Amino acid sequence: MPPDKTAGEGTSLSESDLGRLLQTRILGRGLIEIHTRINSTNQRARELGLTNAPEGTLVLAETQTAGRGRLGRNWHSPPGLNLYFSLILRPNLPPDRTTLLTLAAGVGAAEAVSRVTGRKPSIKWPNDLLMGQRKVAGILSEMETRGANLPFVILGLGLNVNLKPADLPAELLDLAGSLFMATGRDWDRTALLAAMLKEIENQYEALKAGRAGDVLEQYRQACQTIGSQVRIAQGESVIQGTAVAVNESGELVIRPAGGRQLVCVNAGEVTLIKPPPETGLK
Ligand code: BTN
Repeated sequence: MPPDKTAGEGTSLSESDLGRLLQTRILGRGLIEIHTRINSTNQRARELGLTNAPEGTLVLAETQTAGRGRLGRNWHSPPGLNLYFSLILRPNLPPDRTTLLTLAAGVGAAEAVSRVTGRKPSIKWPNDLLMGQRKVAGILSEMETRGANLPFVILGLGLNVNLKPADLPAELLDLAGSLFMATGRDWDRTALLAAMLKEIENQYEALKAGRAGDVLEQYRQACQTIGSQVRIAQGESVIQGTAVAVNESGELVIRPAGGRQLVCVNAGEVTLIKPPPETGLK
């Protein structure tokens, strides 16, 4: 396919372009904010959530000055190259089901990249999308809880689209990738955003309709962590072993090296020590 002349740096995101491509029922319908520059779209979406913005509200930015990643990290957010967006969801699910919500978003995001580029990212548990072992996208979900209630969830997603190696700080050079770096061409960010919203919505609706089993099955197919030898850091403690499964709650199940008892992990940073043996099944 020849490079898309309208894609890439220089084309800014607009509500009217998105409207032409959007095929969702809920996500990106109603309130949409597009910021040239903002601290964090998750932060802004939370403010809107607290003032009763509807489910499906979309906050999008060309650049973030304090983009937030998992585990208290920053999310590198240079202008005009990538996608940075947050959605308000009001899922009416118990708070302990939100892990599944984040996994569902990962499945949808991987599907969207595959639909647009023809290349499917794998998922590193819980929610990193990888292409060629480099991280091209991350998801940060933040919950607003009131006792046992869950008024809303902010689902924030960063996708590196047209980012080049020269746009990366030294500390990310060996780790981060982009769709450009994986495929050798620029991609239309609006088309990607529309596909992301549609595929994430499909997974979200499946979850709400009680089809968590289907979502998890797709997740397990895409998750490259299962079968790998891993090291997981959770604060001060470190577990090393083989990742044998992702359970019904979305936790990673580890068989510790030399241990018999399986351990379920619901958060933490996974380092891949050795990938699974090639089976040809994935
Ligand atoms: C991760 O660490 O893998 C999660 C990264 C999530 C980044 C996105 S960018 C849009 C949204 N706003 C934020 O501040 N963070 C998320």
